[in-house]
This record gives sequence, C-alpha cells and structure tokens, in this order.
Amino acid sequence: MPDSLLDWRKEFPALDKSAYLINHSLGAMPRRTRDRLNEYADIWSTRSIRAWEEGWWEMPIAVGNLIGGIIGAGEGEVTMHPNVSVCQSIIASCFEWNGKRNKIVSEGLNFPSNLYIHHQLEKLGARVVTVPSEDGITIPLDKLLAAIDGETLLVSVSHVIFKSAYIQDLRAIAERAHAMGARVAADIYQSAGTVPVNVRELDVDFATGGSVKWLCGGPGAGYLYVRRDLWPSLEPRVTGWMAHRHPFAFDPEPIEFADNAFRFLQGTPNIPGMYAARSGYEIISEVGVENIRAKSIRQTSMLIELAEENGFSVRSPKDPAQRGGTVTLDVPNGYEVTQELLRRDFLVDYRPGAGIRIAPHFYSKDEELELVVEEIQSILGTRVFT
Ligand SMILES: Cc1ncc(COP(=O)(O)O)c(C=O)c1O
Repeated sequence: MPDSLLDWRKEFPALDKSAYLINHSLGAMPRRTRDRLNEYADIWSTRSIRAWEEGWWEMPIAVGNLIGGIIGAGEGEVTMHPNVSVCQSIIASCFEWNGKRNKIVSEGLNFPSNLYIHHQLEKLGARVVTVPSEDGITIPLDKLLAAIDGETLLVSVSHVIFKSAYIQDLRAIAERAHAMGARVAADIYQSAGTVPVNVRELDVDFATGGSVKWLCGGPGAGYLYVRRDLWPSLEPRVTGWMAHRHPFAFDPEPIEFADNAFRFLQGTPNIPGMYAARSGYEIISEVGVENIRAKSIRQTSMLIELAEENGFSVRSPKDPAQRGGTVTLDVPNGYEVTQELLRRDFLVDYRPGAGIRIAPHFYSKDEELELVVEEIQSILGTRVFT
C-alpha cells in the first residue's frame, strides 16, 4: 500500500540526513519554520515596539488556540509558557498544601521534573504519594486509583509514560479523582501529536505539554490547559504582571487577576519560541492525529516484531491500545549501542532503567525501522564492549 504521508518528507529537511527516529525527544524541524523565524526578525526590526500591539501581546493565547485544536480545548483555554516544568509549577501554585486535604498522587514513572516539583511541595505541607511501577513499563491502575482518597488534592499523572510509552487510563483516573473531590493534572507531552487527546472528553482539570517532540515545534513553547469553570477559583502564586486585570496600570498593590486565561501568565513571553512552534502545529493539524496514530500503531507493531525476531527484549507495551508512539528496546550495552547508532546517523536515545527509545513519526519510512534493527544487530555482533 503506498504511504501518502511520506509526501511530507520534503517538508522536513533533516529527514534526508539521518534515520530520524527520535520524535519522542525532538521532532524534525519543518522547512517553513525558517521563514517563520525570519518573519519574527523582520517584524522586530521593522515594527519594533508596535509589534506588541500588532500581535505579540496576544500570542500566548493565539498560539495556544492552535494547540487547543489538537488537544480538544476550547478557544482561549490554552496559554503558552516556556516549558512543562513551569506549567506544572503554575498548577501546583494554585493550591494550599497545608490543610487536611494535602495529598498529591502521582506515578513512579512520571517525568522527573514533575516529581521534583511534587517533592518541593512537601516543604509547604503536601504529602506526596508516588505509585511505583512493578515492571518498569506500566503503572498498576488499580493501585493508582486506590491511592486517590478524600485527602487527595491533586492527581498529577502522565498520559503516556516517557520511558516506556505506556498509555494511562486518564478517563478512569479523572473519574476517581473527581469522585473523591480531587483535581487532575495530566502531562500530555508524550501523547499530543501522536495519540489522540481530547482534554474535555478525558475530563481533566489541567493539561501540560510542550512542542519539542511530536508537535515538531522546537524548544520554548510549553502549553497549559485549565478547565474554564475553574478559572475564577484559581490564583496562581507563580504569577506576574501579564496576569493582572489591568497590566498597564502597573499597580503595586497585590495582584487582581484577569478574568480570562491571561491569569495563568507571568512576564514577557517567549515570542521567538512561539514563532518557531506554529508551523509544527499547523502541519500536525493538517495531517490529522488520527492518521498519525494509525501509522504509528502500524510502524511500532512492525518494530516490535522485528526486534523480537532479532531476540531483543521490548520494554514497551505489546498491546497497541496501551502503547504510545515509542518502542523501547533493552539490548545489552544499550548506552554504548546508542552512541554508536548516533555516530552512524540513526537518531535514537537511551534512558537508564529502560533502554533504547525508537520513535517513528508520520514521515518515517518502514525501511528505516528495518535498518535500525539491522544496525543494532550489527553493532552487537561486531563491537567488543568493555
Ligand atoms: C512526559 C514529559 N513531561 C515533561 C518533560 C519535560 O518538559 P520540559 O523540559 O518542557 O519541562 C518531558 C521531556 O522529556 C516529558 O517527556
């Protein structure tokens, strides 16, 4: 069957130079992103201070709307921030952690940045409950649900686990959390752009992600979704002048928050990061996440089959319904093998306790998957590891 998605390859110059299988970490740069960055430079140099009124001021919401279209959020419900770590800090700063309801429930395979933020909350009185993985791949849903009780304030979980690509059942987690009176923050970084996400159908209260990976948007463009009906009750302590109802009054009194999603902003936003990110969102929307997912399931299944035929241990779920876009292979001397793969222009990475992460995207060729498995076999067969 011809794969029409391969037509997109000409839009991504990096794909000709390597086997580009690192999309869980850094999606390829769209060709038109260079034009967008030039546009930014032109506007800065020609329009100067007027650029704020001509679009820059509104950019954290206007660009957020492009993300909103991908993750099922409504207009004006997504704001742009430098990265996920900041977004998660904003969420945590919306709550009081010294009351009886002071538990934050998470999973052991959550991205460490998020776990660091949770543990910092202990200094404010939070009790952190981190549900461990029993196999290094999945998180037992029954144990996670059981950890959420009437003293839980926030459940902060990943949608897709970064090391193994295991998909957590966010719907079930949100249902339990809400039944217990808790809020849910989902880190959708490893799902948005490759696994369909609809924040409203999943009924999460917050979602965070970034643009570096599946969205092909580059660094500096993290995003935060907050359920609209919660806005009036949330006053983040991580804040700044852009969150003020009248920012240009420069009022030195305690902040009066804006009624709209500007209330979640802080100071001057990363304008060039947002210029760079837009083309990736447009392309992902045009290709369609459903189409991306169908191809991803086919290719990751193929990769697992090839890996198993070669005797490699797979550290991602075998069931495609439970697996995001990455396949992790645990091969002997995985770190050294990864270094050699990179030297040979096979772009993958290695995570300790997991293995070599390999992630095709909508523009990947089947042939690249055959080649990477052959290359690992050849490295293992010919290199002496000390
Ligand atoms: C699931 C997940 N969350 C968060 C991060 C880190 O995000 P940031 O660097 O934007 O804080 C990563 C990056 O690798 C990730 O995979």
